[in-house]
Amino acid sequence: MLLLNASGCLDALAAPGVARRLDAFVTKTVTPEPRQGNQPVRIAETDSGMLNAIGLANPGRERFLSQILPDLVATLELPVWVSVGGFSAHDYAESCAALHGDDVAAIELNLSCPNVDEAAESAADIVTACRAATPLPLYAKLSPATWDMSEVARAIEAAGADGLSLVNTMRGAALDRDLRPILATATGGYSGPSLKPVALAAIFACRRATDLPIVGMGGVQSGRDVLEFVACGATHVALGTTLFADPDAPQRVRAELRTALDEAGLERVEDAFCLAHESVAVLDNHA
Ligand SMILES: Cc1cc2nc3c(=O)[nH]c(=O)nc-3n(C[C@H](O)[C@H](O)[C@H](O)COP(=O)(O)O)c2cc1C
Repeated sequence: MLLLNASGCLDALAAPGVARRLDAFVTKTVTPEPRQGNQPVRIAETDSGMLNAIGLANPGRERFLSQILPDLVATLELPVWVSVGGFSAHDYAESCAALHGDDVAAIELNLSCPNVDEAAESAADIVTACRAATPLPLYAKLSPATWDMSEVARAIEAAGADGLSLVNTMRGAALDRDLRPILATATGGYSGPSLKPVALAAIFACRRATDLPIVGMGGVQSGRDVLEFVACGATHVALGTTLFADPDAPQRVRAELRTALDEAGLERVEDAFCLAHESVAVLDNHA
């Protein structure tokens, strides 16, 4: 099991010491053109989680390739996964074709940002275009806001993806005292601990639908959370919102995982893989 960061939740050049505690670093989503992102206010705390409406602010593919990626590779000495975004299958495929195995361990296709317009093509069509553009491992990152996740997972596997990243944020909103939306865009992506049951359900359903490796994320805060994600079928686990509050989360979570394994009577985290499925025989209406 690899412990990763969730895309957009760690600036590895600003905090390389935090990134080096991970097994691989996932970049913020990069789009073909530079993006300023949305107007402030772009972040809001709620009683139960965080809202962000960053809107994929990033320097664009050209600067990413010429400056940021070489800096990341030289600074981190870690496998780097690049998160790729776009507004058409062509955008995604062009970015995939520009990435090479010397610097990049895997590509995560962000098919699910709640803060920007989506490509007209389906997730599977985008994966097909990217598959033709690169031999690098391709992970498709999905939103949990789809009722039949297992169907999407099967289509993405058939299109040639090598793995799934589950889950991205869900759309949410929060109001201020005067009953006005706090975020300038009114709605944003909702993340943090309250997303965990949603993420576990998505991983559970997709694991029953495919054998693809799954990077699980969504509200992971502790070593016990990691164990639960693996028990539902995650192969790897990523830390997101928790990194904003606790930069020591990678080593803390690893230490807690050791305790959680002892408490569960397990030796290795891999021993927990899919344990949650053993007591569930049929799940036809959800998987
Ligand atoms: C501030 C912020 C920025 C994010 N930016 C991205 C992004 O650029 N690309 C992406 O795929 N996901 C992005 N995400 C989503 C996270 O990678 C992750 O899927 C989500 O937050 C759920 O995990 P968590 O509850 O542990 O944070 C972002 C999340 C936050 C909170």
